[in-house]
Amino acid sequence: MSSLPECAMLKHVHHSAYRCRDAEQTRWFYEDVLGLPLTLAMVFDEEPGTGRKIDYMHLFFKMGDDNFIAFFDAPEGADEKLFRARSAFDLHLAFEVDTREELKAWRRRINQAGRPCFGPIDHEFIHSIYFFDPNGIPLEITIKDPDYEAVVAKDAANAHRVLKEWTEKTRALKERNFGAAALDLRGIDMSKTDFSKIKNPSDKAAQQ
Ligand SMILES: [Fe+2]
Repeated sequence: MSSLPECAMLKHVHHSAYRCRDAEQTRWFYEDVLGLPLTLAMVFDEEPGTGRKIDYMHLFFKMGDDNFIAFFDAPEGADEKLFRARSAFDLHLAFEVDTREELKAWRRRINQAGRPCFGPIDHEFIHSIYFFDPNGIPLEITIKDPDYEAVVAKDAANAHRVLKEWTEKTRALKERNFGAAALDLRGIDMSKTDFSKIKNPSDKAAQQ
């Protein structure tokens, strides 16, 4: 097994962050339609880490568990291609509610706001509805099925075996797509990595 040092269990998602076309358009959707209050709206003029000069806003909407969905509005150099509807294979975010009635109420509300919403789709452990935010991000609202815990426990017992079989089945195709070296890469060789362009905030503090 791993010889890496022990660390505390990662508790939950504090925030996940995405690029948006426009902060106010995004606020309308997440606050007025999805009911998540705008909690932080911070304006910056420098990219963290690199010090590159750029004006941007970082905004955060609070979910029911006090965690956040966050956005960057960085219009300089951005164009409409960034906000084409993404495939759910590439990216999607699922919110959870408790009951089938709540799920249907959300579908009605989102449709009435002019954002097409479909489902529920049966995934055999959850049921979900689907829609897009104004930035092309696929979103999902889901409920756990009554047998959710049993299905998850059964799948958990098999997960590593299933993954191993899948890896073997798809290896040849992936070698053609990516090359074996990319597939077998794990940690990178730090001695060959140039970190000189990364500014450490503690360096700044030390200089003051
Ligand atoms: Fe999903």
